[in-house]
Amino acid sequence: MKIMIKMTASEIRQEFLDFFKSKAHEIVPSAPIVVKNDPTLMFTNAGMNQFKDYFLGNKKSPYPRVADTQKCLRVSGKHNDLEEVGVDTYHHTMFEMLGNWSFGDYFKKEAIAWSWELLTEVYKIDKERLYVTIFEGDSREGLPKDQEAYDEWKKFISEDRILPGNKKDNFWEMGDTGPCGPCTEIHVDCRDEHERNSVDGRTLVNADHPQVIEIWNNVFIQFNRKKDGSLEQLPAKHVDTGMGFERLVRVLQGKTSNYDTDVFSGTIAATEKITGKKYDASIGDDKQAIAFRVIADHIRAISFTDGQLPSNTGAGYVIRRILRRAVRYYYSYLDYKQPLLHQLVPEIALQFKYVFPELYQQAEFVNRVVREEEESFLRTLDKGLKRIEDLVGDNKAASTVNISGRDVFELYDTYGFPVDLTRLIATENNLVIDEAGFEAEMKKQK
Ligand code: ALA
Repeated sequence: MKIMIKMTASEIRQEFLDFFKSKAHEIVPSAPIVVKNDPTLMFTNAGMNQFKDYFLGNKKSPYPRVADTQKCLRVSGKHNDLEEVGVDTYHHTMFEMLGNWSFGDYFKKEAIAWSWELLTEVYKIDKERLYVTIFEGDSREGLPKDQEAYDEWKKFISEDRILPGNKKDNFWEMGDTGPCGPCTEIHVDCRDEHERNSVDGRTLVNADHPQVIEIWNNVFIQFNRKKDGSLEQLPAKHVDTGMGFERLVRVLQGKTSNYDTDVFSGTIAATEKITGKKYDASIGDDKQAIAFRVIADHIRAISFTDGQLPSNTGAGYVIRRILRRAVRYYYSYLDYKQPLLHQLVPEIALQFKYVFPELYQQAEFVNRVVREEEESFLRTLDKGLKRIEDLVGDNKAASTVNISGRDVFELYDTYGFPVDLTRLIATENNLVIDEAGFEAEMKKQK
């Protein structure tokens, strides 16, 4: 791509904030990742979470316009990407969401014009690589096509690049209940010239192509989804946007993987140094390369959860699962048998010192907690892996459900294997686990 005046990740983040500051937005800090006061949500999964009450009209925001970078985690509930993380190069557990919000202030016209201005004039992304989607409507919900967004986009981009999208992609909801509305997404085609000439980028939008990716979602919040499934019109109209920071950096730095940007390169280099292994990004599905990405991703999730201790329930258990998934990867695929993750905490704390100072302030504590958790899991990991090897051996011939609920439960209870870790290992060996059987065992124990 010819846009590149190489900006660092920090500069890219700052440009975003400066841009919206120049449009009269108040820059606010990220909310914590672990949500304490909303029973519908365990972790912050979008920048708008902390503003939910402003959208619903329960509270009034001190500022009509705000912008920030928000620490998000998508590993549980409605938005869950864990299984993809590390295997592909653009999903994450923890990620930064750059966002701008209007609370009953500006609406579609300004939001669309500013997102275009920022991407094409400030960041100078080639317009020929951009596509946008708008909500096509949904008769079952009684919702019309978002003609207004379409008309606003027409001012900037040719109509053959404005694509209709269905409820799944273009009607954003925070969870089963809560604020929601139609959205318009911006996608970037990062393929090389040759590929772009041979396959029309339009056909690859929202098609899981690793080089044609969504970077920004602009949601026009107008409804509250009620418990009974109905949509209630909100008293005012709001804007809620979210841009995937790591993806934006990748696009602007001209990389084909988020992990090749300076967001992750420090952690990957530190992991190479510790383990004596090399990260070779060219081998996409190589277990060693995946292990590097899993570690680089998961250590961020573990570090940025504001001192949440790993535990056996709730948010703590999600952190434990992520940590154990990472341990298993370095243990099995980087052949590193001692605690590793905690050694990366100082690197991350320093890298984000001025963005998320809370980690820097408690880095020593996080380091200790992570190390103890690694030590405790490493004590049983080897035995658990041997147990799985036996089970895999025993089950190779079977045809349907291969690892019984009771065995999955034993791995969970005796060896500390979260079920998604067992599932992962089973999948790697072309086996499946008896999910219902495991649930039944869990119930029995309770
Ligand atoms: N809340 C919107 C999202 O998370 C912007 O995609």
